Amino acid sequence: MKKRVAIIGVTGSVGQEFVRSLHNHPWFEVTQIAASERSAGKMYLDAIRDASGIISWDVGGEIPEYIKSMKVLKVEEIDVQKLDLVFSAVESEAARDIETKFAKDLPVISTSSAYRYEEDVPILIPGINDEQAELLEVQKKNRNWKGWVAPLPNCTTTGLVITLKPLVEKFGAKRVLMTSMQAISGGGKSGVSAMGITDNILPYIPKEEGKVRIETRKILGKLKDGKIEDADIKVSCTCTRVPVIDGHTESVFLETEKYIDPKQAKITYEDYNKNVSVLGLPSAPEKYYAFHEDPTRPQPRMEREVGDGMTTSIGRVEKEELFDNGLKYMLFSHNKKMGSAKGAVLLAEMLYKKEKI
Ligand SMILES: NC(=O)c1ccc[n+]([C@@H]2O[C@H](COP(=O)([O-])OP(=O)(O)OC[C@H]3O[C@@H](n4cnc5c(N)ncnc54)[C@H](OP(=O)(O)O)[C@@H]3O)[C@@H](O)[C@H]2O)c1
Repeated sequence: MKKRVAIIGVTGSVGQEFVRSLHNHPWFEVTQIAASERSAGKMYLDAIRDASGIISWDVGGEIPEYIKSMKVLKVEEIDVQKLDLVFSAVESEAARDIETKFAKDLPVISTSSAYRYEEDVPILIPGINDEQAELLEVQKKNRNWKGWVAPLPNCTTTGLVITLKPLVEKFGAKRVLMTSMQAISGGGKSGVSAMGITDNILPYIPKEEGKVRIETRKILGKLKDGKIEDADIKVSCTCTRVPVIDGHTESVFLETEKYIDPKQAKITYEDYNKNVSVLGLPSAPEKYYAFHEDPTRPQPRMEREVGDGMTTSIGRVEKEELFDNGLKYMLFSHNKKMGSAKGAVLLAEMLYKKEKI
């Protein structure tokens, strides 16, 4: 029997991607959905219409049949007795109470930042820091919950950490400097106005840079005696919003402890591809990394469909002469696929295999 799951925030940017990522899933079945009071009580198809009655389906393709006439509930109407897992895709302020309520009874996988910075909460990227999932047991015990909250990182941290992990493991890391060019959809369905972003670059995304700094060190850290010791790496970044619909591009400068060059970086990513823990899971891509030697890659329009948005693309890899040992490169990571909804489904698959769900 499939595990019964609920999507909270099902009408939003990430919620819609959840609907798609869970369509015909071999292990999970969406049985309940919820959103705000604005949408509650409506059929899904009506709940995603904008004020003029136009269907606002932002994730492409046809809307899956299973969801069209499903009733959107209020959070309070969700029946936890009939669920095995909750996916939460709500803004962080509302998410805090919602996730607390559900975690008392059930596992909660979240795309919000509500719980990310708590000591007994790991920030998980499937394939990168799976071993930190053991902290969920500590969390459960500390809080006397039957479930737990497992958040993903901010979608900008995701691409950075995925590309850093194999290099840091092999060559050590001292400092990283990143500039992001983030997609419009990263701001949610009402986050960025069309007038504000057209023919423009927004040089500031509130709270984003602090999130990237803290999360990168935590995810690359080590679980020791029931706590995560942050990685000893200095992180600085500038986060910008650009007129791209889906997928974040990031320019990265990395200083390593040992000698590194583009050839070694390529081999390192190829080796990681062969052994990445999530290989073979239903939502995992065939290739976790795509390494490009053509200097005109990565480009959002070319990369966002690769591995159904679950492959992280790397290009422009060059030796960086500013440091004794270092590289510069560019990456592309899909903010709604690997960076949130489908990444959360992959995380659920990894935790299901570990018998935590
Ligand atoms: N967008 C991305 O690429 C991305 C990537 C990674 C992480 N995240 C995080 O994922 C979460 C969702 O982001 P998003 O971009 O999908 O936001 P969004 O498009 O604004 O959608 C928010 C969703 O939450 C629902 N909601 C709002 N207040 C609620 C409440 N009090 N109770 C129940 N549901 C409520 C909304 O319902 P209504 O439609 O009824 O208002 C909607 O379904 C955020 O925490 C965000 O930071 C987003």
